Amino acid sequence: MAESRNCGEGSVMVSALFLAFCLASASSTAQVPLLMWSSKSLPTLASPPAGHITSMEELSAYLTPAFGSGSHTVLLFLQDKLSKDDFTRFGGVFGNKQESAFRNLEAALQSSSSVTFPALEWREESAIPTLLQEKLGVSPLLVDAETLSHLSLNTSVNNLLLFNLPYCSNSTKPCKEVLSDNDQVIGKVLSLLKAKDVSYTAIYTGLQPSQVISEPSVLNQQVGRTLLQAPGADVRPPIMFNSSGGPCIMLWAQSLLISLSSSPEWIDLAAETPTLSGSMCNSTNSMLMLNFVNYTLSFTMSQRFYPVSARNWFTLDSVQLRVKSTGQTGSFIGSRGIYAPAEYSFRCQSVTSFRDALLIPSNQNATQWRVNFVDFQIQGFGLSNGTNFSYASDCAGFFSAGIWMGLITSLLMLLIFVYGLHMIMQLNTMDRFDDPKGPSISVPQSD
Ligand SMILES: *[C@@H]1O[C@H](CO)[C@@H](O)[C@H](O)[C@H]1NC(C)=O
Ligand SMILES: *[C@@H]1O[C@H](CO)[C@@H](O)[C@H](O)[C@H]1NC(C)=O
Ligand SMILES: *[C@@H]1O[C@H](CO)[C@@H](O)[C@H](O)[C@H]1NC(C)=O
Ligand SMILES: *[C@@H]1O[C@H](CO)[C@@H](O)[C@H](O)[C@H]1NC(C)=O
Ligand SMILES: *[C@@H]1O[C@H](CO)[C@@H](O)[C@H](O)[C@H]1NC(C)=O
Ligand SMILES: *[C@@H]1O[C@H](CO)[C@@H](O)[C@H](O)[C@H]1NC(C)=O
Ligand SMILES: *[C@@H]1O[C@H](CO)[C@@H](O)[C@H](O)[C@H]1NC(C)=O
Ligand SMILES: *[C@@H]1O[C@H](CO)[C@@H](O)[C@H](O)[C@H]1NC(C)=O
Repeated sequence: MAESRNCGEGSVMVSALFLAFCLASASSTAQVPLLMWSSKSLPTLASPPAGHITSMEELSAYLTPAFGSGSHTVLLFLQDKLSKDDFTRFGGVFGNKQESAFRNLEAALQSSSSVTFPALEWREESAIPTLLQEKLGVSPLLVDAETLSHLSLNTSVNNLLLFNLPYCSNSTKPCKEVLSDNDQVIGKVLSLLKAKDVSYTAIYTGLQPSQVISEPSVLNQQVGRTLLQAPGADVRPPIMFNSSGGPCIMLWAQSLLISLSSSPEWIDLAAETPTLSGSMCNSTNSMLMLNFVNYTLSFTMSQRFYPVSARNWFTLDSVQLRVKSTGQTGSFIGSRGIYAPAEYSFRCQSVTSFRDALLIPSNQNATQWRVNFVDFQIQGFGLSNGTNFSYASDCAGFFSAGIWMGLITSLLMLLIFVYGLHMIMQLNTMDRFDDPKGPSISVPQSD
């Protein structure tokens, strides 16, 4: 028995194809498939785009010409429940048609003029019988295969014959057997009509969907690999200054914390959206000026060629903070610690002016103040039209202070150990020992 492949539940069998199918059918509430075939010819149906859900109005518009002139005998095979999934699960896959539960149906669809509505909007149980009743102007006549054989149809008037077919949801029989039995019924009815030489139009659909796709769970779950990196949506875009040629300076920071006294009260400027008036950039210098309501924060960068490394490097020369209410300006020098190749961006988890300081206070006011930029990335050159940062040069070198301390301590201990080993190996055994049994060493005493 195939397991239930509900799109909503986390199915194990997530093949790409199945996922595509789920996504295609995820846009509306409930839907049932509708298959229609006729011994006469049916109007052609422009093939709908994949995933399109046919509305009742569209079906009605299609049926009007189909049941237009003359009299029609319409067979409505109405199964208690039906979904597209039933065809994929029990239709016999990969060309293995012997196993299909729908052999008579498939034969009928192929041998006559047919149309398929893979996803028909489902509103209520009686929608399709009511629609057909409206179109044909007759009440449905509930029959089964036995009574049909005794029934004499007046083909000069419209007839609507309704066949109710069970579904497997509360039967003890396996689903495939139930559907296969239904298919036998369809085959029998069709051959009866053929024998009577009655031309007919047949419709096979469900009274209701066999699987109601639970929308919210599909739409709320991010499908695919995005799960581990979840936040996605609320990442702020970087601050971008455009000159005439295109984007020219970009800055991104999780938070731009400033503190104007030694109290631990931090103000996060990144929560505000600044204006960029006063910013400028050319090929050698760029300045990004962020004008907040009460503060102005500016970053001055320059790039030049360093012959030793034979390439251009940019440095963040200074960061200036101006308090608008008092007019005080504090500036910090960054050029000693904040640099990267000119075509790269500079990134640092934490740029501070107080602990592991990359920014050095350079005037009296700045010594009282503290700044802390968290998850900071800046690029002032070489953006060349892109709206993305270039490759980031990170401030955390591979050999951090901790690693150096560990390395030096281990080396020192190794040195002591080697020295000790060396000393031990220097010890020699004596080539003669005093033998206690032998004659004792006598020192002749002579005058
Ligand atoms: C079929 O119906 C038409 C219209 O109601 C009627 O005139 C005709 O006699 C009926 N034919 C038979 C065989 O009952
Ligand atoms: C199947 O179950 C539904 C309710 O769950 C019930 O109304 C219906 O009569 C049942 N059908 C059969 C054949 O037992
Ligand atoms: C800068 O340019 C980029 C792309 O060219 C654009 O997406 C962005 O909105 C512009 N920013 C401003 C402030 O004009
Ligand atoms: C870039 O701007 C700086 C500061 O305004 C200026 O000193 C420098 O000459 C400019 N360089 C170029 C190439 O325009
Ligand atoms: C700007 O300063 C004023 C006065 O100190 C204060 O009331 C206001 O909240 C500040 N605005 C922001 C966005 O910090
Ligand atoms: C520092 O602040 C004082 C006021 O407290 C101000 O007069 C002075 O100009 C400031 N220094 C600089 C370099 O901005
Ligand atoms: C920037 O993009 C525009 C249009 O997308 C293009 O015409 C221009 O050549 C690009 N400039 C650079 C430097 O790539
Ligand atoms: C910028 O990054 C986004 C997302 O990472 C990517 O889709 C886009 O193609 C990139 N643009 C360029 C010009 O590299």
